[in-house]
Amino acid sequence: MAELYDNSTEKPSSRLSLPTGEGIVIDIGTGDGHFVYRLAQRNPKKFFIGVDANPRPLEKISEKIHRNPAKGGLPNVLFLQASVEELPLELDGVADEVHIHFPWGSLLRAVANGDEKILRSLRRVCSQEALLEIVIGLDAERDRTEIERLGLRPLSIEFIDAELRGRYQSAGFEIAERGVLPSWEWPKMETSWAKRLGGSEGREVIYIIARAIYE
Ligand SMILES: C[S@@+](CC[C@H](N)C(=O)[O-])C[C@H]1O[C@@H](n2cnc3c(N)ncnc32)[C@H](O)[C@@H]1O
Repeated sequence: MAELYDNSTEKPSSRLSLPTGEGIVIDIGTGDGHFVYRLAQRNPKKFFIGVDANPRPLEKISEKIHRNPAKGGLPNVLFLQASVEELPLELDGVADEVHIHFPWGSLLRAVANGDEKILRSLRRVCSQEALLEIVIGLDAERDRTEIERLGLRPLSIEFIDAELRGRYQSAGFEIAERGVLPSWEWPKMETSWAKRLGGSEGREVIYIIARAIYE
């Protein structure tokens, strides 16, 4: 999992064209965009796109990235309001990495139940061999109402191997790695939800890393 995070300390520098030389990363259900912002600071040669269906959490961070670089502006980030169900065609085939961290609502249902139509739209934005990283944190008791509302199947490593692997494969993804993320690893993800959930007992955080396969 750590391989997806580049901890380069190189500082952003001014440039004439979009800095996509080391790849394009899309974070879907980005929320307040904290994860995208932090990674964009550390990886000035990658380009980051944060996508969320809800425009509200995107407002503050969208304003920040357009500031003067001395005041937090970054040239290698873009935020888009879009749902995973209707990802813009302009994103087709562009992503070298796609992240989905702590999804809820229809985004959670799509990746946790293996909805083939939505997985296919995720595949559509991926370049060949792109990595898809999904991190899901559910508490069977606290999230019971939402789990029932969304009709989620109980998520476990066994369920991933027995059911999701085949569905992801049909949609063009090979699951390369899956596992349970211990609570002391959550803060390393640098998403606002990882911090908010901070070691809460009863919550299990499961990750899936899949690779877009040739079609
Ligand atoms: C719990 S927040 C996680 C935010 C961020 N990834 C983090 O880890 O801090 C879940 C996000 O998923 C977004 N979301 C839910 N359904 C979505 C959909 N169908 N398409 C895109 N985003 C969605 C919500 O608007 C919300 O911002």
